[in-house]
Amino acid sequence: MTQADFTNKLLEFIQDSPTSFHTVQNSQQLLQKNGFTELHDTDPWEKPAPGSYYIKRNESSLIAFVIADSPLQTTGLRILGAHTDSPSLKVKPTALQHAHSATQLNVEVYGGPLLHPWFDRELSLAGRVTVQTKIYEIQNFLINFKKPVAIIPNLAIHLDREANTSKSINKQTELAPLVMISEKDTAPDFSTTILAQLKKEHPKTNALTLIGHELFLYDATPPAKTGFHEDFITGPRLDNLLSCYCIIQSLATAKTSCSTLAVLSDHEEVGSVTSSGAQGPFLQSVLERILPDTASRYQCLAKSMLISADNAHALHPNYPDKYDENHLPICNKGPAIKHNANQRYATNSITAAFFRVLAGLADVPTQDFVMRNDMACGSTIGPLVAAETGIKVVDVGIPSLAMHSIRETVGSLDPWLLYKVLIEYGALPADSNLWKGIAG
Ligand code: CO
Repeated sequence: MTQADFTNKLLEFIQDSPTSFHTVQNSQQLLQKNGFTELHDTDPWEKPAPGSYYIKRNESSLIAFVIADSPLQTTGLRILGAHTDSPSLKVKPTALQHAHSATQLNVEVYGGPLLHPWFDRELSLAGRVTVQTKIYEIQNFLINFKKPVAIIPNLAIHLDREANTSKSINKQTELAPLVMISEKDTAPDFSTTILAQLKKEHPKTNALTLIGHELFLYDATPPAKTGFHEDFITGPRLDNLLSCYCIIQSLATAKTSCSTLAVLSDHEEVGSVTSSGAQGPFLQSVLERILPDTASRYQCLAKSMLISADNAHALHPNYPDKYDENHLPICNKGPAIKHNANQRYATNSITAAFFRVLAGLADVPTQDFVMRNDMACGSTIGPLVAAETGIKVVDVGIPSLAMHSIRETVGSLDPWLLYKVLIEYGALPADSNLWKGIAG
């Protein structure tokens, strides 16, 4: 695959994945196209024969793995991880409110979005709905309006003269997106709108009533390249769909000689303590089924490692004093290795060195990121997986600007550079000194 093809497919993947459910669905399609077989939690599978598999949980997290011929306890597992969710606005159970001839969505805030950029943008709606199809029969479907259906207009500067100097946002009263002009007694109910959309996307469905929904608003404007020489990609959910795509694309197409596993986890933006999140039992239960013998499994995990990929902070030229001046990741200069003495990132000297040498084999430069001592450090799924499984971890990420905005920016070359490192990871021979060094 060329760099141009890769970047175009990445932008398509992001545009087609407005929620963690859609991220998993699109990852699944990519895996199926490349010969991966689906396994189910409800089936009694264990010790799968050499081959390629994936398994989903809650339709919003996914683990995919390739079992090679050599015994796992000899080679260890190459593990890759990222998260499928992004900060957003989620529709509340009572979805609509009517006042002043306007119909608006009731929303709650999911995760920690930067809220100002959500104003004055065309918003679309997507997620999972649960419908009754017969008496006592319920079914789940994904829907995606794929066009602007809502907007949160700003208040005009004439009505708020302080807007450019001191503007805070009340999450309860100021975020409701406008969806139509209507009177309360003539407004259509939410269910009618959703069932019409469901019929459009799944024509064979005979849905009687809408009985549940997990719907999120998203930026309807597609991702784009920008800059005099297209130096940047700008788009929604780059944190962390960039990493998800690099991981799934590398796993699906790499010629891997060693057993490899990718875990894409939901709910990272809200703490990961869920049945499908990185601090839940999903990964452990899959590892136990892959290698049921406890001693062999621990032997395997001691020879394994995780590359945990989640975007880092690139130097913002307007705010250089927000960064440690000796650790300044720059866009288009390669993935950043993320370090934190207090273990908010799980990188250690062995795993950082491994990643640097691996990147060098792929001819990719690396950078280092450390948060300033006088600012709080974020975290990611790396330390959680390390604590749950004992696996060694390197936390890395593509340097990005405006993290958690509705539109984030990264260097247009960096996703390709991360992908090249991950391809190298899959291809690294199990008996190479570099891989064997991980077991030390
Ligand atoms: Co993230």
